[in-house]
Amino acid sequence: MAAAEARTALVTGAGSGIGAECAEWLLARGHDVVAVDLRAGRMAARADELHAVVELDVTDAAAVEAVDGIDEIDIVVQCAAIGGPSAPLTELPIDDWERIMAVNVTGVVNVMKATLPGMVRRGWGRVVNVASIAGKEGDPGLSAYSASKGAVIALTKAVAKELATTGVLVNCVAPTVTDTPMLAGAPPGVLDRLVDRIPMGRMCRPSEVAELVGWLCSDECSFSTGACYDITGGRATY
Ligand SMILES: NC(=O)c1ccc[n+]([C@@H]2O[C@H](COP(=O)([O-])OP(=O)(O)OC[C@H]3O[C@@H](n4cnc5c(N)ncnc54)[C@H](O)[C@@H]3O)[C@@H](O)[C@H]2O)c1
Repeated sequence: MAAAEARTALVTGAGSGIGAECAEWLLARGHDVVAVDLRAGRMAARADELHAVVELDVTDAAAVEAVDGIDEIDIVVQCAAIGGPSAPLTELPIDDWERIMAVNVTGVVNVMKATLPGMVRRGWGRVVNVASIAGKEGDPGLSAYSASKGAVIALTKAVAKELATTGVLVNCVAPTVTDTPMLAGAPPGVLDRLVDRIPMGRMCRPSEVAELVGWLCSDECSFSTGACYDITGGRATY
């Protein structure tokens, strides 16, 4: 079997959790990786192996557009997101709603707008947006997060159809609760209740998400676009 062609990949949220695992997966397969995050985080220790570490806020469209070589990116993996406070919608400050939508939705849009034209011009590209089972089912206390992830799923499907004949495939993944620093602020008991809903009876590991994302970024993934891939240990029913 021929070795996979080395590509240039940009991973957002690469400083932690699932994004860091995805960046390491791509690095291990010989791709040039641009690690994007508010803070370098885990990628600080890998800076010598990376194409670049860029500290920026994905809501800042101008900063995203200004990333050196942004037009040369072949693979995009979008993990940057925030959960926001856990509260019923009626008690959620509107500023929190706006920030969650800005990071989780507008951030995803900013990165796609900056990278898709180059991919289309070259006739090859892979985009994987990390959504969540919350975007399909809606998690109580996390209405803004759930709405933002539902938007990521619909956005992925729409953009994928726009580009279906270009060689650029756009997919998303919808993990269940995954063992990353994002869970650090979860109120007591919440994680146990979430795990109880997973037929496999455990949390997802970030490396398991990276394996799925990695395949979606590869040449081997050739006839899937606009799809939302489940990774929930059997929880999702659609
Ligand atoms: N952990 C889970 O249970 C779980 C479940 C389903 C989906 N997800 C999704 O997986 C993705 C990765 O989450 P994680 O669990 O690895 O979380 P994490 O908190 O470990 O990592 C998220 C990273 O995004 C970065 N980030 C946040 N806002 C940013 C911004 N404005 N600009 C640039 N970077 C920013 C953070 O600095 C952090 O390094 C997210 O999209 C999350 O919604 C997580």
